[in-house]
Amino acid sequence: MFIEDMQTQVFDSNAMTLTRFVLQEQRKFKNATGDLSQLLNCIQTAIKAIGSAVRKAGIAKLHGIAGDINVQGEEVKKLDVLSNELFINMLKSSYTTCMLVSEENENVIEVEMEKQGKYVVCFDPLDGSSNIDCLVSIGSIFSIYRRQTSDGVPALQDALQPGNKIVAAGYALYGSATAIVLSLGSGVGVNGFTYDPAIGEFILTDVNMQVPEQGKIYSINEGYAADWEDGVHNYIAAKKDPTKGKPYGARYVGSMVADVHRTIKYGGIFLYPATKSAPNGKLRLMYECNPMAYLIIEAGGLASNGQISILDIVPQMIHERSPIFLGSKKDVEEALSYLQK
Ligand code: AHG
Ligand code: MN
Ligand code: MN
Repeated sequence: MFIEDMQTQVFDSNAMTLTRFVLQEQRKFKNATGDLSQLLNCIQTAIKAIGSAVRKAGIAKLHGIAGDINVQGEEVKKLDVLSNELFINMLKSSYTTCMLVSEENENVIEVEMEKQGKYVVCFDPLDGSSNIDCLVSIGSIFSIYRRQTSDGVPALQDALQPGNKIVAAGYALYGSATAIVLSLGSGVGVNGFTYDPAIGEFILTDVNMQVPEQGKIYSINEGYAADWEDGVHNYIAAKKDPTKGKPYGARYVGSMVADVHRTIKYGGIFLYPATKSAPNGKLRLMYECNPMAYLIIEAGGLASNGQISILDIVPQMIHERSPIFLGSKKDVEEALSYLQK
């Protein structure tokens, strides 16, 4: 009986797929050309292909290193390379982009003139690379901007835009299910789509996602505690101190996408602060901090570098890093109050 009930629910003859959702949103803008929808469709294809590669990576011998060191000084994994190629090829062939910024490419990628369109995309093709080979959740992150220069050769200034200029941003999580979380503009909200492998489509499952105002979880790599500034020390100590309220639980996946997804769903705070040896923290502004900050803020949370909103930082370099404190409004406000003490 129960299984029959479940089966009738599984076959929704009017499902809101991601493609359908994007088209529906496009219709709300009279002058929309359909370029953004086309761009999002191409990103969706890249994500489906990466998801498929992730699911069979162990069997298809896609685990392990590719043998290169990237511009960040990190060992590049085979899945990093494949995911990056998929993003670049799909974005170029969407005919909607002119410049791309990837974690894996030292310089901006200029799209061939005949394929150029009006958008700039910044992306982390595979986030959480250290978790690939042990089958822990990983992801992809992207943000979309409108180019600033008019026609002709795009310039670096087209890439170096602050997060408050984002047109749309999202991430894919390759977890116990594959999901895409997306916002198509400020004020439009954040929606989550879960992949249904049976039909090869992402289905709207999380409507208008909201970060709880306060959570019960803190998420930070505590191995670096000796290197933290006093404010971070004191805040984390307070979260563990029963005399200051019910202690928070600790969760840290080590894949930003997974840690941020949990923070949106359950609330709490994710921190990657500056340390003595890494005064700008580790996470990259343009393709990790900005898109995640955009989504968290759009869902009612906060994202700061300790002083200002992440989205107000004007980038100087495409691979620059930023400390980040993001999550539930009350939790981030409390953490910031410790930093300012
Ligand atoms: P990437 O795999 O794209 O290089 O990103 C890894 C990042 C991020 O996903 C995660 O939050 C962070 O590195 C973890 O760093 P630590 O191991 O220093 O905690
Ligand atoms: Mn990353
Ligand atoms: Mn990466």
